[in-house]
Amino acid sequence: MSKMFPNLFSPTEIRGKRLKNRLFLAAHGTGLAEDGKVGGAGYEYYKARVTRGIGLLITEATQVVPTPGQKYAQLNVSSDTCIPGLKSIADLCHENDCLYFVQLFHPGRGNGHSMDGSRPMSIAPSELPEERYHNMPRTMTVPMIRDLVTEFGKGAARAHRAGVDGVEILAGMGYLFAEFLSPRANIRTDAYGGSLEGRTRFLRETLAAMRASTSEDFILGVRISGEESSVDGIELEDTLEICRLLEHEGLVDFVNVCVAGAQSLNGSSLIVPPMSVETGYTLPYAQAVKEVVSVPVLTCGRINQPQDAERAITSGQTDVVGVVRALIADPEFVEKSREDRPDDIRACIACNQACIGHRLTGYGISCIQYPETGRETQRELFRSATVKKAVTIVGGGPAGMKAAVVAARRGHRITLFEKSGRLGGQALLAQALPGRAEFGGLISNLEHELERHGVAVKKNTQVTAEMVLATNPDAVVVATGAVPRMPSGEFEEANCVSAWDVINGRVKVGARVVIADWRCDWIGLGVAEKLASEGSVVTLCVNGEMAGQTIQRYVRYRWIGRLHDLGVDVVPYVRLFGADSDTVYMQHIMTGEPVMFEGVDTLVYATGHTAVADLFTDLDGKVNALYAAGDCMSPRTAEEAILEGLKVASEI
Ligand SMILES: Cc1cc2nc3c(=O)[nH]c(=O)nc-3n(C[C@H](O)[C@H](O)[C@H](O)COP(=O)(O)O)c2cc1C
Ligand code: SF4
Repeated sequence: MSKMFPNLFSPTEIRGKRLKNRLFLAAHGTGLAEDGKVGGAGYEYYKARVTRGIGLLITEATQVVPTPGQKYAQLNVSSDTCIPGLKSIADLCHENDCLYFVQLFHPGRGNGHSMDGSRPMSIAPSELPEERYHNMPRTMTVPMIRDLVTEFGKGAARAHRAGVDGVEILAGMGYLFAEFLSPRANIRTDAYGGSLEGRTRFLRETLAAMRASTSEDFILGVRISGEESSVDGIELEDTLEICRLLEHEGLVDFVNVCVAGAQSLNGSSLIVPPMSVETGYTLPYAQAVKEVVSVPVLTCGRINQPQDAERAITSGQTDVVGVVRALIADPEFVEKSREDRPDDIRACIACNQACIGHRLTGYGISCIQYPETGRETQRELFRSATVKKAVTIVGGGPAGMKAAVVAARRGHRITLFEKSGRLGGQALLAQALPGRAEFGGLISNLEHELERHGVAVKKNTQVTAEMVLATNPDAVVVATGAVPRMPSGEFEEANCVSAWDVINGRVKVGARVVIADWRCDWIGLGVAEKLASEGSVVTLCVNGEMAGQTIQRYVRYRWIGRLHDLGVDVVPYVRLFGADSDTVYMQHIMTGEPVMFEGVDTLVYATGHTAVADLFTDLDGKVNALYAAGDCMSPRTAEEAILEGLKVASEI
């Protein structure tokens, strides 16, 4: 029993069913569904978390209508073929004293997924456009609404037959039910619009149909937005009225409060909030809902430490705390909390890169810090070494650190060399970007793991091939990273500095700055934000379609908003050509025409990196086994560096 988190690990009940603790894994699309059903990869993913202590599992947004041929991996309960998969998860949960709910949903006008590449049709209470996928929905007729109510009832019945304990309807985040609930998105004049009664009718009928098709002890609840942060979304007063009514009619056994709205870029960026959003941002809304209902209130959002979760319970803001990315980054989050080992938790840094970043680009979820996530079926990544070896790893950036952790975890004897006085490589710089301090958690998490696994770390050591050959290790991993690349072109008289030197504070810039951003990622955005907030007039010139083009969209949306507030001028579709003492010359990437910026004091270049691979070349063919990981092979991001660190260490 936890001494540090007594409230978090105290039991509670929902509709008379016991939750062993107050931590649940909230619904999240894993991208691991196979043909609409739970398959081996999904099962193993959930197993890694259910067996490690969560009190409640709510699985991902699941459709109730058939989605034949949909390429976007998503669960579906539209036929009895879903039952064996759901049953496997239900059995798993019950063997581990964990409750299990399925989240049922309909995207409404927020339908972004095609069957065959053509645009999908979308439906909504009213014919109003949404701003995310730019869908103009078809207004649902009353027979369409009634059909859907029936389908939800059937879907719940299938979950019930599979042994699932309950269903959560996704009635928030701007999807179909939420559209009905919002007086601004639902402008119907029939029985399903208008008054509170009318707008909630679809949801109330659906809950009633689910109760009728299941049993008295089956748990029913809603996930609803405290507010949607979107033009025609729900606001807190709407939510409170709706929750009061649902409880008054005895339709819900719990309310799960979120804050997001999929119908706009602003609202959708809160579905999976990046690190620029404050931790626990949904708690005030959960607390407001708690004040108007007596059923248990759940909430989830940017709670990645048990200390914060405990505080949320103790302060009475919520009854049960949901975590998603904290459990993606560390499947042992609950176990380590229960054992009072919070320092051992690999805290999620809300970078969004490999979890929702993968999901929204059609891949199974993973984690940049813990790429083992989503790869649970790849047993070779988890096996111990049969022969213990002496391994030299050169380079203390994310690739080298991860390789060292994994190789040591497998039983090898590791020495990790870093030429500077600090571990972390480029992540040290990335964490210095405005609003990105949390990224540094990646380094401290890895440092802690190095320590736990007894890796010998030698800093301030520039390793040469001769040094390696003299010790004759069984295996060598080269992870020597990359250095900033100077742009090609004419820059003789220009005051031209690298983005990293600006971030490091090694150089001063003038009042008027142009940033040449070839990478279209965090660096250009971050340097622009830093310099504009320090008072420079900044133009961010992007060699792409938009600033932040290559980064996860929710991170980008919020950053673009900050740059707009700071008055940064963003110029897309340009490539750097040259600069002189006060003019920067760009070229339009489509027409080749010159685009000039005059009166410029400083040109900042974020023009990529060059791999540092000399050691690898020098050792090639001369050591027992040679591996390389990360930027020294091809400069990319921390995600690939850590993944390759894992892969090479698993091969040794
Ligand atoms: C990969 C991914 C997929 C998600 N899919 C869903 C979903 O299907 N339904 C839902 O209600 N929320 C979904 N969410 C939102 C999460 O439930 C949660 O609210 C969000 O991640 C914030 O919580 P966290 O900070 O603990 O990650 C998803 C989140 C992630 C990371
Ligand atoms: S990829 Fe980033 S945001 Fe996603 S779980 Fe891992 S650390 Fe958290």
